[in-house]
Amino acid sequence: MSTVTTPYYVTTPIYYVNDAPHIGHAYTTITADAVARWNRLLGRDVHFLTGTDEHGLKVQRAAEENNCSPIEWADQTVVRFQDAWRQLGISNDDFIRTSEQRHYSAVEKLLQACYDNGDVDLQTYEGLYCVSCEAYFGEGDLNNGNCPIHGRPVEHVTEENYFFKLSRYEQALKDWYETHPDFVVPVTKRNEALGFINQGLQDFSISRTSIDWGIPLPWDPSHVTYVWFDALTNYITAAGYVDDPQGFEKRWPGVHLIGKDILRFHCVYWPAMLMSAGLAPPERVHVHGFLLVGGEKMSKTRLNQIAPSDLVDEFGVDGVRHHFLHDQAFGPDGDFSHEGMTARYNADLANNLGNLLSRVTTVVTSKCDGIGPAPEQESPLRRIVEEEYGHIADAWERIAPSDALDATWRIIRETNAYLEQAEPWKSDPGPEVDAVLGNALEVLRIISILASPAVPDACEEIRRRIGITDDAEQQLPESIQWGQYPAGLAVLKGDPLFPRLK
Ligand code: MSP
Repeated sequence: MSTVTTPYYVTTPIYYVNDAPHIGHAYTTITADAVARWNRLLGRDVHFLTGTDEHGLKVQRAAEENNCSPIEWADQTVVRFQDAWRQLGISNDDFIRTSEQRHYSAVEKLLQACYDNGDVDLQTYEGLYCVSCEAYFGEGDLNNGNCPIHGRPVEHVTEENYFFKLSRYEQALKDWYETHPDFVVPVTKRNEALGFINQGLQDFSISRTSIDWGIPLPWDPSHVTYVWFDALTNYITAAGYVDDPQGFEKRWPGVHLIGKDILRFHCVYWPAMLMSAGLAPPERVHVHGFLLVGGEKMSKTRLNQIAPSDLVDEFGVDGVRHHFLHDQAFGPDGDFSHEGMTARYNADLANNLGNLLSRVTTVVTSKCDGIGPAPEQESPLRRIVEEEYGHIADAWERIAPSDALDATWRIIRETNAYLEQAEPWKSDPGPEVDAVLGNALEVLRIISILASPAVPDACEEIRRRIGITDDAEQQLPESIQWGQYPAGLAVLKGDPLFPRLK
């Protein structure tokens, strides 16, 4: 269990630069962002990494089709991810591109370490290759002769490749899983990875001669590094493996968030590669399911991909973030629907949070001349906040944003119920009304901290409307101790924070 003094290094997968960002990518990235923001609130030294996977046959072919070099193609397409993340308020500390020099140096160093340890040898390889996965398959893995993930024909490839001796790490991996029961979560995914290891591990190819868009092997530059070996290494490149040994010491091992389709690479290959180089395996791998659209995985060929920016136009940045964090539990597959998203937006954001803010600011304007009163020291709302904080903190620690937001929204609902019971809008101004509104303002102050990992812009606006103008650090748990909303701040009425959607 990490403490507030432990640095927290969290990563998303690096996305194929060739792809257009869709809501499946956004889902992982928003989750990692919210987790990073939560951990910053706890005062942890957070390093949050995302980026793009730029080598391999897919990019080389796309560049050829577009009459440019692979790096020119990557330079053009990477912007789509960078723009999408900026638009969604993603607070990454670093963005890695595998075409960067720092990454070449890290891959060379890792390869050399595995090679020097005697874990790499040259073999002739014949196999069935899916270009979309950038992976080989056995006959038995195929679906009617097609790739089981993409449903597209595989290619027959014969190559002389360098192999990584994964088979040597079978026992070490079993021991690692045994001694680190939380290495992969949820437990169903841990069992899947372990099941794969228990079947017996085969060495895997880590180089190609058929393409040249990649990182040359340091001992044999006629080969380029297999794109997955290259891609996985990004996590240590950005931690400072080559260029910042002190930073590396502090950050590594990190926490990875990944989709279920890339489990084998992260939970079997990657820890073995690190062990071979004398490095620690990741701290933890959190595996999530797919977002399905109409029951199907999004894909270019099915033309059912949804761009995050399309949803932002309609729901706003916070509406999109909140939906993916609250409605789509992190773990199982989730069905995305426009109706579901509208319902969640109206229930949580328009009717609960937005309504609470607008009620409180309106009544403070009419009954207290727009000046916020102080909360009471003892209030039923205080107990609710204290009770729910435990659930919220525990859920973020487990990377269960939907549980964390359930508990956060319980506080909001209870506060609305408290106001409905007290009905301060019906009473004459005076100490009783002041006390009720002071308590509600205190909850809004606390919510503006607790909900900020999910809906950061709305939380900033809430603070502005309740008159808090300083941006002092809001370190948890001190910042949510009851009673800190000061009397005498100017409270502002304004347009609905989240206008109701039809
Ligand atoms: N480049 C590799 C990852 C290398 S990490 C060292 C890759 N890229 S990807 O762009 O195809 O996928 C990245 C992530 O997006 C994966 O975790 C994948 O599971 C996730 N998703 C792609 N489609 C998705 C959904 N429909 N739903 C949820 N996540 C999805 O694989």
